[in-house]
Parts: sequence; structure tokens; C-alpha cells
Amino acid sequence: MNIPFEILRTPAAMRARAEYLRRDGRRIAVVPTMGALHEGHLALLREARARADVVILTIFVNPTQFGPNEDLAKYPRDEDGDLAKARTCGIDLAFCPEAAAMYPAGAQTFVEVRELQKPMCGASRPGHFAGVATVVAKLFHATLPHLAVFGEKDYQQLAIIRRMVRDLDFGIEIVGVPIVREADGVALSSRNAYLSPEQRAAARVLSAGLEAAARAVASGECDAAQLLALARAPIEAEPLARIDYVELRDVDELTPIDRLERRAVMAMAVFVGTTRLIDNRVLLSQPVAR
Ligand code: PAF
Repeated sequence: MNIPFEILRTPAAMRARAEYLRRDGRRIAVVPTMGALHEGHLALLREARARADVVILTIFVNPTQFGPNEDLAKYPRDEDGDLAKARTCGIDLAFCPEAAAMYPAGAQTFVEVRELQKPMCGASRPGHFAGVATVVAKLFHATLPHLAVFGEKDYQQLAIIRRMVRDLDFGIEIVGVPIVREADGVALSSRNAYLSPEQRAAARVLSAGLEAAARAVASGECDAAQLLALARAPIEAEPLARIDYVELRDVDELTPIDRLERRAVMAMAVFVGTTRLIDNRVLLSQPVAR
């Protein structure tokens, strides 16, 4: 039976709707977003559609994951445009709360995934992942999903959410969807909208660095220092780009790796102008047999 499309605005209203759908035997998928939807988000919605009876899109620009000097005020907001795009992917419900509904006065409880939140983006964005984990936990409580779909572009975020779900027994399947890229390799991101044409051209250096490292791995290179140097080279050669970090890490624990023997991901954050872009690539998906 089709569900009439509806926008829910409070956690209580959303949860009542989700409880009803669960009682009715429906399998619920949620796709949490902060809006500014692009093809990458639509790929998440299509994945959710293929796996569930009910697809819930959440749009919430979560203030607790922005640092004091970050772009909360100028984060792009276009609910009508986002919903029009999302409805082409067949969503059933949208949960679009205001900040006051999500964080009542006096809210002081946070979820922290202690170790995974520390390195990489966590090092330059203190508090960011506590904000992410907390809001995702709240979105899960409101939407009561059987599964949730996230992009692999936010690699550390996905690892943190998987760990939170495991550690706190949420009983929700977490599905990761591969990065969607433009023809020139640049990963789709809501932040690409901030780039001037020159900066957009310069942004190619992130995926070029990852590609250089992946090619070296295919030719047998295992040394992390060599791989990192190869990945950094095109970025360092681009005057508009400045590296925040480029690192090779264990795919699950996010601990540093010296040699490519365990499953490994190369992840990076790079400022292009004032816009901080992230990208990653799994360089070794199976451990080396001994
Ligand atoms: O990836 C995002 O858009 C956000 O971090 C998320 C998961 C929706 C939490 O606000």
C-alpha cells in the first residue's frame, strides 16, 4: 500500500509515524542528510529505495557538528528544491525538524565514539563527530529504521556511525554507498558549490593524488611513506590547494598504517581556497595473505 507523502517536523510526530509503519510490518530505510542534495545523495536514496518498503529522507542542518568558525550560517538551504529532487527517487516521508525541536533548551547529552573521533577530520574539527554521532542517534530514535544509508565519501563519519550502532546495540543495518564522482574525478559534495571555476579545476588534485597512490599499489608499492608522497605531490603542486591531512589508515580502526598489509584507506582533507574538501580511497580491501 502506498504511503501519502508527508513532511514531519518534530521527533515525536516522526516517531509516531514510524511506530505505526513498523506495526504494519514495513521495512524502513532512512537517509540522513543536511540537505543541499546532489547526485551523491540521490544515489543514497536509490539504494534505500531498493532495500526497503518505506524510505525516509531527513534534512537537518545540525548546529552541533559545526565549529565556531565554520559555515553553519552560510550552509546552503533549499528544502523545496531538495524535496523535489528526492521525490524523483521515490521517497515516502521527509523528516525536516527545526533545531529547537531537535535540541530542547538545556540539552546536554552527547554520544562520543571516543577513539575513532580523534584523528583525521576529528583532529582539525574538535567536537564535530560528537555532534554527528549525537544527531544520528537522535534521527534513528525518531525514524526507527531497519537500515540507514550513508555515503562512503565521509569515510570517518561512516566508521563512527557503524561503531556507535554496534557499541550501543541499535540493531540497525548500516549501508555504505560508494563515492559519486564528476567526469574529472572530483567527488560530489555540497561544498563544491562554494568553489570558483578556478578552484573547481584545482579540486581535481584530491582524486588525482588518490589515483596516483592506487596506481602505485597496483604496481606493487606497499610502503606508506611512498604512497603518501605520491598522493601529496599533485596537491602540493597546486597553488590554490593546501593540505589539512593526507593519511593511510586501517579501514575499521582508523589507526595509522606503515605498510600496506592490512585493509587500508587513504583519506585526505584539503583546503581549496577557503573551502575544505575531503576524499578517500580504499587502497587495500583484503589483507595480504602470509
Ligand atoms: O553527512 C551528513 O550530511 C551529516 O553529517 C549527517 C550524517 C546527516 C549528520 O548531520
